[in-house]
This record gives sequence, C-alpha cells and structure tokens, in this order.
Amino acid sequence: MSYNLDELIERRSVGGIKWNLFDQDVLPAWVADMDFRSPEPILRALHAVAEYGDYGYHFDAPRLRDLLTQRLALRYNWSVQPKDFQFLPNLVSALNFVSMAFTDPGDEVIMLTPAYPPFVSAPGNSGRVPIYVDLATTLDGQHLRYEIDFDAFEAAITPRTKVLLFCNPHNPVGRMWSRADLERIAEICLRHNMLISSDEIHCDLILNGAQHTPMASLAPEVARRTITLMSPSKTFNTPTLGFAFAVAQDETVYNTFAKSTAYFLPHPGAFGFAGAYAAYSECQPWVDETLLPYLKGNRDFMVDYIRQHLPQLTFTIPEATYLGWLDWRALNLPGESPFHFFLEKARVAFNDGAAFGDAGKGFTRVNFATQRQRLQEIMDRVRAVVEDL
Ligand SMILES: Cc1ncc(COP(=O)(O)O)c(C=O)c1O
Repeated sequence: MSYNLDELIERRSVGGIKWNLFDQDVLPAWVADMDFRSPEPILRALHAVAEYGDYGYHFDAPRLRDLLTQRLALRYNWSVQPKDFQFLPNLVSALNFVSMAFTDPGDEVIMLTPAYPPFVSAPGNSGRVPIYVDLATTLDGQHLRYEIDFDAFEAAITPRTKVLLFCNPHNPVGRMWSRADLERIAEICLRHNMLISSDEIHCDLILNGAQHTPMASLAPEVARRTITLMSPSKTFNTPTLGFAFAVAQDETVYNTFAKSTAYFLPHPGAFGFAGAYAAYSECQPWVDETLLPYLKGNRDFMVDYIRQHLPQLTFTIPEATYLGWLDWRALNLPGESPFHFFLEKARVAFNDGAAFGDAGKGFTRVNFATQRQRLQEIMDRVRAVVEDL
C-alpha cells in the first residue's frame, strides 16, 4: 500500500471539529488531529467490526495487553506486565481522575507551563489547587528553546503538593526531555512523596530520530510512583475511536486509579479495541516510512519559511509532536491576542496560547499535520497580514 499525504482530503463534510468550528473561509491549524487518513490496516479492522455486527460490551482485550507489553519492551526497553494496563476512552478524562484520585480537596497538583489546556484546568475541576511552574527559555536567533527550571520546580512544592502532571514529549513546546531531565524530576518527586502522572501520548511522534524514554522505565522505584498515560490516537489519528490506556505498575496506585474511574468512565468499545490492535500490530511501517518523514518535512518547511519571511517571530523547533509554538510578542500585534488577530485578519485558526497558562500569553500553537500545500497557504496568509501591519 502506498500513501500520498499530499492528497487534499476534504474533511469539513464529515463533521470533525477542526474544519467546522470556524467559518468556511478559515484555514484550521488548531486542535491536534491530522488532515491525513489513518493507515489502511486500521480501516480494514474497523470495516470488519462494522460488518460483523457485534457491538456488545468489550471491557477488556487480553491479546491487546500482550501486544502492548511486547511493544513497550521492544520500543522503549520498558518492562511491564499485561496486568498493568487499564483501558480508557481517552486521556483528558484520565488527567482529571489522576488529579482527584491521588489527592484530597485543597491539595496541590503541579505542572510545567505552558501546558496542554486540560492540564491547566484539571486540578481546579475537582477543587484541587493548580501550581504552575514556568519552563525556562533560551533564545538562539529566532529559535526559542524551553528547559525545565528545576530550582523553580522544587521551590514551588509544598507539603500539600501531591501530584505532578508531566508531559513528555511536551505539548506545546515540542521538547523531548532528556534522560537526565527525567531523572532529576523523578528524584524531586520521590523525595517529596509525590505521584507522577506522565502523559506520553506524543511518544511515537519523534521528529529527530531520538529514543523516547518513558518516565516509569527509569527505575523500579520511579515506576512505583508513576502512572503513565498513552494512546494510539495522536500517532494513528484515531482520537474519536475512544481508546487510550494507563500503565500503573504498583498495585496500590493501580487500584486507586481503577477505583476512581469505575462506573464514571466508559470502557473502550469494539471499534476502539480493534483500531488500537491494528495500529500497534500493523501500522508502525506507515509511521516510520510515511508519516514521520512528512511531518519532519513540514516542520522544516515551516522553520525555513519563518526564517525567510517572518524575521521578528520567535519559535520552537519541535523535536517531537506536530505542534509548533509561535511567540508573537515582539510584533505588538493589534487586538485582543495573536489568536484573535490571525483568525480575524488572516482567516487562520491557531490555538490561543493563553489557554496553555499565563506562560502562553502572546503565543499561538500551530498544528502542522496537514498537507504541505495547506501549510504553505496558512503561512502565506499569516505573512501577508504581518507584512501589512
Ligand atoms: C498531552 C496530551 N494529552 C492528551 C491529549 C488528548 O488525549 P485524548 O484525545 O485521549 O483525550 C492530547 C491531545 O492533543 C495531548 O496533547
């Protein structure tokens, strides 16, 4: 099967939110799904489920537990057991349940900002107190690079800080944290007896060929204090199939989380399980040979474009994810925010950086998982209104 990611797929009529939230003349570069069809084996697996006609409950899938166990060992050298998995309908709900399950009302949940918006809101949703610790930045020409400010992180921890919501690779800044970064974060969290929720949903979208290290794979004592959140939904573009998973290797952590979600969260359904099995058993060649080279090409195109045509804009060069992070502050754009400015003037919908915490004000997030031609049009529209200022 050969794939052509340049094909301009029409998505509006299907009803997906990315192409339907804004007016028809707006080009969307916001919510994190891709303008590409999922790979063929997933389509076949879903057809098979649809045609068989058994849509009964699917609480579990032992063969998927085995497949995931092998995958985590092979890809990340991470040893888990089939019993360590909990299957979930998505990860946003998991962030909320983790924030609740391992804390009492009034306890603190800490995170590194800018952060994916559901991180920012999760603690407050259940009467927990969010603690936001800004990442540090360095600037090399137009290249904005984020680092963890370990001193600020540790200084923000109090006896009431019980959970870290961690993101690796980090949405929105595109960093793959190094092993040394992970070890330092883990050491601090363990010393303060905190639970680490490690959202690794972007772990297979690596653009620089590096090896992803799951937080829990560092050491057995880290694994005991970590709940890892993963999903095929970003990599294989299947978020509405409703399948994600958590890995908890400590029995108490496992049971605490399971108890918190029981009867509140639905189990994945037949389509979710079938899609995940097909993705993980048959679609890695599509990721390696088709998707990642294309995304890397888009990232490089965008970086070159900005360097050439938008000299005042500073930006991240994502090591992972298909999300760029653009800092418009030096341009003093008119209007409420860069997001509003570009939506109104360029008819381009980015994500509003302000949703990622105060550290995101003046920024927009750009989703570059689209056809190169569309990405070029997005950049051309942005450039035109900036040159018109
Ligand atoms: C870090 C992170 N976690 C979770 C999600 C969403 O996961 P789900 O669709 O499974 O709720 C996203 C989506 O972009 C994400 O970037």
